[in-house]
Amino acid sequence: MTQRTAFITGGTGGIGSAIVRYLAGQGHRVSTNFRNAEKADLWHAAMKKEGIDVCMVPGDVCDAAACAAMIRGVEEKCGPVDILINNAGITRDTTFHKMDYEQWTAVINTNLNACFNVTRPVIEGMRQRKWGRIVQISSINGKKGQYGQANYAAAKAGMHGFTISLAQENARFGITVNTVSPGYVGTDMVMAVPEDVREKIIAQIPMGRLGRPEEIAHAVAFFTGDQSSWITGANLAINGGHHMG
Ligand code: CAA
Repeated sequence: MTQRTAFITGGTGGIGSAIVRYLAGQGHRVSTNFRNAEKADLWHAAMKKEGIDVCMVPGDVCDAAACAAMIRGVEEKCGPVDILINNAGITRDTTFHKMDYEQWTAVINTNLNACFNVTRPVIEGMRQRKWGRIVQISSINGKKGQYGQANYAAAKAGMHGFTISLAQENARFGITVNTVSPGYVGTDMVMAVPEDVREKIIAQIPMGRLGRPEEIAHAVAFFTGDQSSWITGANLAINGGHHMG
């Protein structure tokens, strides 16, 4: 397999860490951004102990100028970004009649506007090199909606709209653009849902359990592989049967 440079936004999080591990395990150079230096140092050291040397760049995905600097930083240290995973995400769950402007914009900025901020400085190089893999980490709730997540569901649905437009514009440049839509995975984000609510959600999952981060990483790696060269504009649901179609 060709060794490439992969940039995973929010790589220090639950699903992000699994993607970092999986792509590193395939021999790629892996990189991610961070906002909190102290937390990032601990995570970086833990990864090193596992034998994974992650290239770390500071920067907030909500800030377009910071993202341009972030990508320059990665490319200087590790070479051109051939694989981009737009994974960074947050929730600010509350019913819409209680939602304030900050809760709306924080989620739209981090989950959706970040796709513009990070992909824009990467796309030109991919087009010139005639090779690229871009994967958006969306959500089951971008497809089915979710009580208490008007902001998150709107952002996650928007991410796939972004995927299918970029897929059309960049197909002739050897760039594939796809979406992975995880269901409820056992990460801090899902564990923050009140236990009684979470138990009711798990009861709706035919597999009877939360997903594992590596089950999502496996699909991401599938899309980024050399042989997935004719798969573009897809939206792969990985949710234990929670939502189909
Ligand atoms: N369907 C119907 N009614 C529901 C409901 C649902 N799914 N969820 C809550 N309700 C009802 C409650 O029973 C309650 O009814 P009563 O007032 O009659 O008792 C009422 O709604 C509560 O409404 P409130 O406006 O008072 O809501 P709240 O402020 O207590 O907060 C909530 C509600 C924040 C939405 C909370 O239920 C919650 O956290 N839900 C989970 C949201 C969720 O799934 N988040 C996913 C996070 S993980 C993630 O996002 C990763 C991913 O991609 C999957």
